[in-house]
Amino acid sequence: MRIDIISVLPELMESPFKTSILKRAMEKGLAEVHFHNIRDWSIGKHRQIDDEPYGGGAGMIMMVEPLDKCISELKSQRNYDEIIYLTPDGETLNQRIANTLSIKKNLIFLCGHYKGIDQRVRDLHITKEISIGDYVLTGGELAACVLADSVIRLLPGVLNDEQSALTDSFQDDLLSYPIYTRPETYKGLSVPKILLSGNFGAIEEWQHDEAVRITKERRPDLLE
Ligand code: ADE
Repeated sequence: MRIDIISVLPELMESPFKTSILKRAMEKGLAEVHFHNIRDWSIGKHRQIDDEPYGGGAGMIMMVEPLDKCISELKSQRNYDEIIYLTPDGETLNQRIANTLSIKKNLIFLCGHYKGIDQRVRDLHITKEISIGDYVLTGGELAACVLADSVIRLLPGVLNDEQSALTDSFQDDLLSYPIYTRPETYKGLSVPKILLSGNFGAIEEWQHDEAVRITKERRPDLLE
């Protein structure tokens, strides 16, 4: 999978891809992430990329021309499955969206800044708009990292068996059951006896029941 991330602040996104599991995914050639600085497609000697909104109002708008040039250049080089704009106005990211994107080959993530992007960029290029939650960030960069992480970890070969994505919270619309490791008792708190029983059928049943109980308690909407 190849992800091209377009932003005014690519340096904000460097470390997640240089660390731990995402780093290994890059090194194994399972994922490629390329950063593009919008300033490289800026206009005039002032390297302008934003301007005041027509109709007035607070905040600057990212101009259509630099973004159109940048995206058009990328599109001339390969076919993109989706061109995604990270914005609080988008569809809220969930596991189903991450799963769907994880089988794509080429993706563009566009990070917004200031008040947002000129509507014509959306009309010309954007195929999907994604929000990572009902709150506003200073820009789309952290959201792009969240989205990339949620997708790249699903690529075959990225996680090993123990980390398997199949047992994640949300993969079957249930939150995780409680998990324990050594010691058996800590400050008077003991590991549930069933987990020490060696009866894997009973353990699986307990884990499922606990997952349902916790999901009912915290996220009943997931069971609807
Ligand atoms: N940009 C600013 N806030 C955002 C959010 N919640 N999700 C995605 N992109 C954003």
